[in-house]
Amino acid sequence: MQKIGLNELRTMFRDFFVDKGHLAHKSYSLIPEKDTSLLLIGAGMAPLKPYFTGAETPPRVRMTTCQKCIRTGDLDNVGRTARHATFFEMLGNFSFGDYFKKESLTGGWEFVTEVLGMPEDRLWASVYLEDDEAYDIWVNDIGLPASRVVKLGKEDNFWEIGVGPCGPCSELYYDRGPEHGCGEPDCKPGCDCDRFVEFWNHVFTQFNRDEEGTYTPLANPNIDTGLGLERLACIMQDTDSIFEVDTIKHILDGIVKISGVEYEDGAAPTDVSIRIITDHIRSVTFLIADGVMPSSDGRGYILRRLLRRAAVHGRKLGVDRIFLTELADLVIEVSGGEYEELVEKREYIHKIIKLEEERFALTIDRGSDLLSEYISDMKEFEQGVLSGDRVFRLHDEMGFSPELTKELLAEHDIEIDEDGYLAELKIQQERSRQSRKTVNVEAWTDNDSIVSGLDKTEFIGYDTLQSRARVLRVISGTKAVDIACAGETVGIVLDRTPFYAESGGQASDVGDLVGENSFAHVDMARKVNGVFIHHAEIETGAINVGDELLCTVEATTRNRTARNHTATHLLHKALREVLGGHVQQAGSSVDAEQLRFDFTHYEGVNGYKLGEIEVIVNRVIDEFMPVTTTETDIEEAKKKGATALFDEKYGDKVRVVEVGDFSMELCGGTHVRNSGEVGAFKILSENSIGSGTRRIEAITGTGVLNPLTRAEDILAELSKVFKSAPDTILDKVGDVLTDMKSLRDELDGIRKEGIGSSVDSLLASATDVDGGKLVTGSFEGLTAEDLRAMADDIRAAAKDVIAALASVTNGKVVFIVAVSDTMQEKGHQAGAIVKAMAEAAGGGGGGKADMAQAGAKNPSKVGEAMAAVKEFLGAA
Ligand code: ALA
Repeated sequence: MQKIGLNELRTMFRDFFVDKGHLAHKSYSLIPEKDTSLLLIGAGMAPLKPYFTGAETPPRVRMTTCQKCIRTGDLDNVGRTARHATFFEMLGNFSFGDYFKKESLTGGWEFVTEVLGMPEDRLWASVYLEDDEAYDIWVNDIGLPASRVVKLGKEDNFWEIGVGPCGPCSELYYDRGPEHGCGEPDCKPGCDCDRFVEFWNHVFTQFNRDEEGTYTPLANPNIDTGLGLERLACIMQDTDSIFEVDTIKHILDGIVKISGVEYEDGAAPTDVSIRIITDHIRSVTFLIADGVMPSSDGRGYILRRLLRRAAVHGRKLGVDRIFLTELADLVIEVSGGEYEELVEKREYIHKIIKLEEERFALTIDRGSDLLSEYISDMKEFEQGVLSGDRVFRLHDEMGFSPELTKELLAEHDIEIDEDGYLAELKIQQERSRQSRKTVNVEAWTDNDSIVSGLDKTEFIGYDTLQSRARVLRVISGTKAVDIACAGETVGIVLDRTPFYAESGGQASDVGDLVGENSFAHVDMARKVNGVFIHHAEIETGAINVGDELLCTVEATTRNRTARNHTATHLLHKALREVLGGHVQQAGSSVDAEQLRFDFTHYEGVNGYKLGEIEVIVNRVIDEFMPVTTTETDIEEAKKKGATALFDEKYGDKVRVVEVGDFSMELCGGTHVRNSGEVGAFKILSENSIGSGTRRIEAITGTGVLNPLTRAEDILAELSKVFKSAPDTILDKVGDVLTDMKSLRDELDGIRKEGIGSSVDSLLASATDVDGGKLVTGSFEGLTAEDLRAMADDIRAAAKDVIAALASVTNGKVVFIVAVSDTMQEKGHQAGAIVKAMAEAAGGGGGGKADMAQAGAKNPSKVGEAMAAVKEFLGAA
């Protein structure tokens, strides 16, 4: 066979399928676009899933790609074998509902035998054991001897990745000859030995697998094939190691040169390190080119792990300097022709690798020393498992991932306590979650050393909302760092800024910082010793000291805040006009939502005066007075009549903000250009916040719409409830209230009448007691008051009488006992009687001699209470 280079093989494959009507598409990014089931692209078909499922229409029903792929599932084997790799390229031809099994298999056969010239007798195939159709194509259409077509189970011949399209498959194998095999007589594809190289997988994509693992047939059967380019190159270059393939060997030679350690094709222990570095630098270079940044989770963590693992293996080979960028250049050299992004982003790739490698270099030696210490410690005490807190310390302080520690310890037959490590990690995550909450901007203010050596920031935000600026410092927590990456929230100091930092009661601006490869959102800015620190969350890329960023303040937030700030000045002046010159500002707070103004005044401001204040402010708004600012010295400003804050210290130069001839204040805030821009002014509340100090809250401009809309909503609900149009609703409510009053009166009348008639019948059924009458009665729904009225009526109607009444309402019993004067003289006490009654019903109470009340919770005992009272009084 003719030896063919890897880059050439790629072109041959592409040309072959383009000739067969396929659209050649360049490799998609390693970062899956919308597919959350994958962290990285690991197969040619992965970026094409929507075309297979029919969710999107492909640009053509036949496509071909050479896709860059990363798989890290077998990371531990990389370096230890001749064929494992994290990075590889996958050639593929795809049919979206167009051709199917026959054309795919015969096409593949044609390519390998006719274009590449592989000897037919070296080729084998496997099929899914139930797939007679594929078997038939191999044997009858292609003419492969049946003895070289192997039927295998689902494990080998059914292909799927995450969720999405999948199906049975058929694979092509190359027989490297019995000398590479296990020697077993029935050795064939599927055997674990090295004889048969599986290189081209044809998947007959017929199903879609969902999150639950259910397989649904696809509307159109598709073809998805994957031919590992490095494996193909091995076959074509007659080697059994991907590290001998021309392009990869070029990178491997680079590390051999840098380290001065010879490569012995797997025979020397150092070969593992050489291979690991060779493989990992490919992944690292491609990942960075596609925008992945080293970080502590997700894709970024994969990148960090690979890069640090390569760096550690560099040390193992004796390289004690930064070396990975040199190797990245070799990757770019051999792959840049196909993957232009590598060439275009060379500088960026260098920068990121260098930063991460340098950052790790700071701790790598200390980490290695610490690890050696642990190892000798453990050997001395014959321990076989490194404790979780030690694994964690190596990770947290030295940047040695637990996987790396595990790998380094494996040589010493020591394991790591993974559960213990995870427990430590959890504790730390909780700690940092808590500290994220508390490492806030206050920490910056309390710690002004974080801005030491920096000049005061030039604020250019009075005149512009956008500007370019250079990063002078990046603050992580309260430490200055060189770089911060996506996912981190940091403080950023710029040489100049359009962002207003919170001061004088005005909230800071919000907005964005955009660099060449980065995007960050600023949610506040704080001034520390005149240095503006932007509190920013980095959403993509990384921000480095020295970067030039485009800084953009969000205009709507700024405008709303400015509107509220100018309104505060108008309010201040209007208060003095309406309440008097004694009014002094005692504090204020202004943001995009509303304004708050605290002032000295001895009493509450009544609604009438508040209305007057609103009218004045709104009049000034409608007069469209220009807002001007001037800089002058404090004495001059005071002479002109500017309002200055009591107690406030002003510098030599002060800024005077004037609204027409209405208001003049010293102020550093941002304002509208004309009072008309305030739009409208509405007071929300006025109240006391301490002796002699009042607070007004108000809103302006379009902000006035919020309460208005709320009021409208309530009104609409009310008109629905009262079935009345909004402007007649007041009459309607009046009618309802009048109706309610007359109904209540009517009800009272009825009840009184009822009580009257009850009294008559109660008296009629009275029993004799001690020369007088005992009147008893139990009712439902009467109140204690009703019972008392009834008892009074009884006492009025009969002379020597004791009334003992009960009523059950809402499951509770109330008892009232009234005793006439004459009966009291005979020694009968209302309090004692009611007590006896209530106790019989499981309750209690008491009272005076003439009238007493008690309660009980058991309505079923009312009869017993009535009997008890008779017994108590000795009634017949
Ligand atoms: N998608 C199939 C594979 O990756 C071709 O093996």
